Amino acid sequence: MFATRTGWNLSVNRFTVALENHRKAGKPLLDLTASNPTECGFEYPAEEILAALARPTAMEYHPIAQGLLSARRAVGEYYREKSIAITEDNIFLTTSTSEAYSFIFRLLCDPGDEILAPRPSYPLFEFLANIQDVKLAPYSLVYDHGWQMDMNSVRAAITKRTRAVIVVNPNNPTGSYVQPGELDELNRLCADHELALISDEVFHDFPLRRTLHADFAANQGALTFTLSGLSKIAGLPQMKVAWAVVGGPDKLRKTAVERLDVIADTYLSMNAPMQHALPVLMESRHGFQKQLKERLEKNLTALDGLMARQRVCQRLEVDAGWYAVLRVPVTRTDEEMAVALLKELDVLVHPGHFFDFEQDGYLVLSLMTPEKNFLEGAKRIVECFE
Ligand SMILES: Cc1ncc(COP(=O)(O)O)c(C=O)c1O
Repeated sequence: MFATRTGWNLSVNRFTVALENHRKAGKPLLDLTASNPTECGFEYPAEEILAALARPTAMEYHPIAQGLLSARRAVGEYYREKSIAITEDNIFLTTSTSEAYSFIFRLLCDPGDEILAPRPSYPLFEFLANIQDVKLAPYSLVYDHGWQMDMNSVRAAITKRTRAVIVVNPNNPTGSYVQPGELDELNRLCADHELALISDEVFHDFPLRRTLHADFAANQGALTFTLSGLSKIAGLPQMKVAWAVVGGPDKLRKTAVERLDVIADTYLSMNAPMQHALPVLMESRHGFQKQLKERLEKNLTALDGLMARQRVCQRLEVDAGWYAVLRVPVTRTDEEMAVALLKELDVLVHPGHFFDFEQDGYLVLSLMTPEKNFLEGAKRIVECFE
């Protein structure tokens, strides 16, 4: 009756079961996985945002596949503030970056074609690809005083069916920006193998340490799709606004825009109130980013204070983003470790294997966690390993 692509293993993992039991038992919890900004104590200009959503123009219907011009202008302005000039014709609004991925996979891939994606990284890629009948092929990020792309593994993963390379800039959860030299190498590979680039930049606006990065939205070396959205840059995941910027050599870009236009026109998924409100929602990101950056910085500094007093755990280098990765002694699998920390210390962290780290011994901590909880939770973890 059902498509084989939907034959997922839906059994709940040990980590989820342990968390459900912990909550049911009413035990205290220091949640160091917090990543829903609407639940982490930030202040939003709620009245202004709600008024923008209730504008009379929201009662009009203008079916424009790429999104209303006024809304795309607001996105263009976002890039102009980063000193990147983008014309509105090359911007597509979508209801999430996930939707943008599916449009782009549909544009580039026939069933069974392949897309390369980093490992470790965002776990949803596997599902996004499978749902579109695309095969995801991993390439490695390696750690050596900082994360970098293993270009040999990118090269080795390319086959005749490869259509694109995904980069996450900065990556979730390693927090590593793609470096300009890496982009040069990617452009060479794309030219040699007729590949496109897809750069996921949802965490781009949250630099923490090293700020040097490649600018994919301005890339001319390959057909390039740059993705971002309000869920991370403005802390508004409930608004469901994202976009894809199409760039690269003129001829390829033009064809991509024409074809994406048909895909977007088939769904017309963006709703009017959100598009009319977009300039206000985009503007609200400044206040959100200021608050969140302060918290990210405080938590990272507190974590480094704890690290300085011990030798068993190591905080891996991070350029940007919302997460810190801890390298811890491997005494059991990461999942067993996370379950033990929950049961024994009432501390919730993500095991590295959720993000497909190639080995055990990694825990992922959300730097968005309210400061008091973060410090107490991190302290308990470090003391337990000592
Ligand atoms: C790398 C990355 N891309 C995209 C998203 C989700 O973005 P959206 O809410 O726009 O689908 C996430 C969410 O955690 C993410 O980590």
